[in-house]
Amino acid sequence: ILPPTIRQLLSGSATDVRVKVNGWVQSVRRQKNVTFAVISDGSSTQGLQAVIRDGSLAEVLTNGASVSLGGTLTHSLGKGQDKELRVEEVQVVGECDPATYPIQKQALTMEYLRDNCHFRARTSRISEMLRLRATSSDAFQKFFNSLGFCYVHTPIVTSSDCEGAGETFRVISAISDLSSEKDTDKPSEFFGHPAYLTVSSQLHLEALATALSRVYTLSPCFRAERSQTSRHLSEFWMLEAEWAFTQTVNDVCSVVEAAVKDGITKTQAHSRTFAEGPSSPRILEYLHTASSTAPWTRLSYTDAVSELSKYQASARKFQFEPAWGKPLQSEHERWLAEELVKAPVFVTDYPASLKPFYMRLNDDDKTVACFDLLVPHLGELAGGSLREERSELLNNALERQELDKAQYGWYTELRKYGGAPHGGFGLGFERFISWISGVENVRECIAVPRWAGRMLL
Ligand code: 4AD
Ligand code: MG
Repeated sequence: ILPPTIRQLLSGSATDVRVKVNGWVQSVRRQKNVTFAVISDGSSTQGLQAVIRDGSLAEVLTNGASVSLGGTLTHSLGKGQDKELRVEEVQVVGECDPATYPIQKQALTMEYLRDNCHFRARTSRISEMLRLRATSSDAFQKFFNSLGFCYVHTPIVTSSDCEGAGETFRVISAISDLSSEKDTDKPSEFFGHPAYLTVSSQLHLEALATALSRVYTLSPCFRAERSQTSRHLSEFWMLEAEWAFTQTVNDVCSVVEAAVKDGITKTQAHSRTFAEGPSSPRILEYLHTASSTAPWTRLSYTDAVSELSKYQASARKFQFEPAWGKPLQSEHERWLAEELVKAPVFVTDYPASLKPFYMRLNDDDKTVACFDLLVPHLGELAGGSLREERSELLNNALERQELDKAQYGWYTELRKYGGAPHGGFGLGFERFISWISGVENVRECIAVPRWAGRMLL
């Protein structure tokens, strides 16, 4: 139905055929009798080399212009490419003034590209990252489908705060609510109801898991948190799965481990492309270790704190004193994964006081059946738990965390009618992309990033 992309032309076997290529001019090199231009259509990191012998045709090519080139695809004798296009026809589709074009040839800083993120996917690094997102989401979907999970879509506008941490954005509509006769300038909430952008699809997935048994989704999530680190976005995507009739945190960890290992394997070709950068050997090494270490270490929070305390007593390297009952700081998380285990590690059974209301209380009455997955050179990649399926204990947890029980009425009802032990997890999609590509900031792992204080388009 559509003509081949440049990736398809470059990987296909046909040569000495007439083709038409649409794309954007990435570079132009003019010599005395011939001009070389690189044309990209975003389908691969490698553009197509166009060779133009007719000076009048070459004249109109400028960086950034969109063009349609007709010519013959032939074997290339030059270095760096197998094929090239001998150009016979040039049509400039959209002009581009090279003097003022924001994407210049010289190296552009990340900060500059963030300021111009409506153009930045035209750089090979960002377009490669977007293709990596597509490959990764495809890999995760195949993985969960193969285990009998159903891919579902959960709401973005919700009536409750899934994590109960008060980090929600509230939804305000531009019209006044239905009870007033005519629109006033006064904006209202969602037709008179308090509404929030989702922080996680988990609660809705739990409802669906009590019907479809195994469900997953890849969905945007929104968090009004102040963190401005290289790991935090205000709008990010989360891969979440939830399934019924699972009994132990170990079982949940096993699914996460298999999904992440499969994700690493299926994206290897991309990781290699990214790895051509300066941090290359390191990325390939930690990914190799992660995908070949079987199985990943599982360490209780209590044991983790005792290891951290021992190390702190001897080396005094941490800024924050590790202590039972306190959250693990990112310096602690990195040390556990990078120094102690030297591979991904599941830290399980945190104190209930540190975790959201929905996690299942352990028999010790102090800890909950949960895990955080910590990986070298990133920190927390995923988190999950068994969910509290016992009505009374769930009510206690809501009370203890001073949450509005009415908001969670439908959620507690799931326990009353045909409840079943169940569990699940959430994995930060941009963090996964950052980890497997070595692109250090999640702001470069999403097409249009939003973070505390920043929203351009
Ligand atoms: O640990 P979190 O907050 O867990 C949940 O939301 C659970 N309800 C998930 C579940 O069990 N279904 O978030 C899960 C993951 C984190 O491990 C992290 O990778 C990512 O989501 N994440 C963020 N990624 C980018 N920016 C942020 N602000 C993030 N907050 C969490
Ligand atoms: Mg977490």
